[in-house]
Amino acid sequence: MVRPYTRIYATPEKLAQGLAKDFASEVKSAEASNKVLNIALSGGSTPKLLFKQLASSPFRDKVKWDIVHLYWGDERFVPPEDPDSNYGMTRQFLLEQIEIPEENVHRIRGEAKPEEEADRYSQEILKSVQEKLEKMPRFDWIFLGMGDDGHTASLFPGSDALGVKDKVCTVAFHPTSGQKRITLTLPVINSAHRISFLVTSEKKSGIVKNIYEGLNDYQDYPAAMVNPQKGSVEWCLDNAAASGLVDKINSHS
Ligand code: 6PG
Repeated sequence: MVRPYTRIYATPEKLAQGLAKDFASEVKSAEASNKVLNIALSGGSTPKLLFKQLASSPFRDKVKWDIVHLYWGDERFVPPEDPDSNYGMTRQFLLEQIEIPEENVHRIRGEAKPEEEADRYSQEILKSVQEKLEKMPRFDWIFLGMGDDGHTASLFPGSDALGVKDKVCTVAFHPTSGQKRITLTLPVINSAHRISFLVTSEKKSGIVKNIYEGLNDYQDYPAAMVNPQKGSVEWCLDNAAASGLVDKINSHS
């Protein structure tokens, strides 16, 4: 088991600042090579902090937003105004604060019919994300969170969605509430160039430790199934989430 590469920050705010700087430099490199960047965002509390950073100075004005295309790794089937909407959260904390062309924002329509929307969004991604890896769209960067049960995007432990190999997106269900979701599938996630997990809080430290040290059936956590074929994965943790790690050989702050 190769230990995942980790970056450990003192606080969630510092983590968000570090990632916002990285975001700005990724956009700068893409600009220098005349490329667009296809980035899939995540829901959750830590991304919200990242969005707040990106929506404030210097990033708001420094980032060349017109070469950035935004997508979502997962969404709940609720309208954008609902507090549960990942797009709604991003709109409030990021999109309304920056100048990004409307056509660069590829949202999942949480108000649509789940199966139809999974197909429609898959087609939109296939069309817009030009680079492919074994026929799967290859995102430049995917941000992911991890839930207390080890889920990531809307891929929950033991769920059918984990077995979907031939689709870009699929419909998923929250295991306890039954809420319908849409999620990118594992093959698409694992085709990305770069994947960053944003994980904070002490309550996640046990799962982080299991995955990092390869303990206790860690392979059953969907987050541990994220191993890009040709890309890189990094685990961005705050001190609390990293508190169970004894040997932090791959870490830096
Ligand atoms: C969603 C997510 C999900 C999330 C984790 C972590 O539910 O929409 O994309 O995978 O990232 O549940 O969320 P927190 O950072 O809020 O703990």
